[in-house]
Amino acid sequence: MNRKVTHVVVLAAGKGTRMKSQVPKVLHRIAGLTLIERVLRTAAALSPATTTLVVGHGADDVKASLAALGKLQFVVQEKQLGTGHALLQAAPVLRGKTGTLVLLSGDVPLLRPETLLSLIATHDEAGAAATVITARLPRPFGYGRIVRAGGRMTKIVEEKDASPAQRAITEINSGIYALDLAPLFDALVSIGTANKQGEYYLPDLIAIYRKQKRPVATWTVERAEEIRGINSRAELSEVSAMVRQQKNEELMAAGVTLVDPATTYVDSDVVIGADTVLHPFVILEGSTRIGAACEIHAGSRIVNSTLGDRVCVRNHTVVSDSTVEAGARLGPFAHIRPGSRVGEDVHVGNFVELKKASMGKGSKANHLAYLGDATIGSGTNVGAGTITCNYDGEKKHQTVIGNNVFIGSNSTLVAPVTLADGSYIAAGSTVTKDVPAGALGIGRARQENKDGWVAKRKERK
Ligand code: UD1
Ligand code: CA
Repeated sequence: MNRKVTHVVVLAAGKGTRMKSQVPKVLHRIAGLTLIERVLRTAAALSPATTTLVVGHGADDVKASLAALGKLQFVVQEKQLGTGHALLQAAPVLRGKTGTLVLLSGDVPLLRPETLLSLIATHDEAGAAATVITARLPRPFGYGRIVRAGGRMTKIVEEKDASPAQRAITEINSGIYALDLAPLFDALVSIGTANKQGEYYLPDLIAIYRKQKRPVATWTVERAEEIRGINSRAELSEVSAMVRQQKNEELMAAGVTLVDPATTYVDSDVVIGADTVLHPFVILEGSTRIGAACEIHAGSRIVNSTLGDRVCVRNHTVVSDSTVEAGARLGPFAHIRPGSRVGEDVHVGNFVELKKASMGKGSKANHLAYLGDATIGSGTNVGAGTITCNYDGEKKHQTVIGNNVFIGSNSTLVAPVTLADGSYIAAGSTVTKDVPAGALGIGRARQENKDGWVAKRKERK
């Protein structure tokens, strides 16, 4: 592969008026990833020497959302005067550099790296000053049209500026280009605003280069979906559905059973082992990883969490930012909140909530419990209705429960408190003192039975 140095610029300053949103358009998400993250992943496949984002609307939010990526440069376009003006803002970063600039739109999330490689190959072969990705659309409304004479592209006209004959052209401008850096910035300066929208149109570059007798070229994508832009919530949902369907197909090809793909929602980065079964209405989000031969039942939602092999998640369970080890059983109606670790073969049953809690191998909390800021060893049984009182109104405190502990039902464990290995807690206890290994902790009012009390009460009446 004979490749010149590649630089990438992404235009992302626009407001996205039609989204009707406080959130900048490029921060809306499709299957867990923002539009801009998707575009930047595609760009990264080109191993560019530099990647520059032109930001404007919501610039600080866009920058903050990408802080973890590093290696990006940002230039601010204060006023959105058009795509030609937007690219000009990158001059301080790129002027004087040579090689190929790949220009991307922050709102075109489905573009594949392979397509960009084809674009660059065409651009190099043609020795072009500018190469445009085009597509044929049966309904080209809204896009810039590729005007050709004798088969060669002569200019691009925007919908609003097009004559009726030009509007009938079905070959459209994707807004994605390969551009030779050497002549670029001088040419950009000569773009004017004599058009219906009074904007600096980047596509005017084509006519300018033709006048200068510089070669221009096109690369037409086969599947036009790839260059779809997101301009509205309706388009966001349509493209989301396409991404979701593709993810589902990949999962099934990799040996995952989806009982009803139409109601299964799996984010793009989720990884799932073979022979796992997803029942209807399962939602798997973010960086979630699910092992092999798991069963996830209807209505469950798992966010940024890791599940080992053979985990069974019964209906309506929520797991977030936690780890669940092999063979564990959760739910129905379990809530595993961030920072929890559910160990091997652990059972967490209905209406049990964990928060920053760890349960060792084979431990059980089968019914109605709150375990927060707690460390629980292995082989321990947490009775129904057990509550760790972790909060004193000001601070959180730890509860430490050892191995093979038995906690009777309806116990309240007032933290900080430690129940050592093998200890027993009598049902209904309020535990405020540490319980030594092997001891019985009992903390409740002693029961008294008053013989004949019922009959005596009747006599009194
Ligand atoms: C643009 C093209 C059109 C093409 C279409 C493909 C122009 C004039 N028209 O139209 O030929 O068919 O894309 O989707 O370029 N942006 C800025 N600053 C600005 C204006 C836009 O950063 O001042 C950014 C937007 O945030 C967006 C991208 O540039 O990411 C495209 O702008 P948009 O207004 O969506 O252009 P279109 O009207 O779709
Ligand atoms: Ca657009």
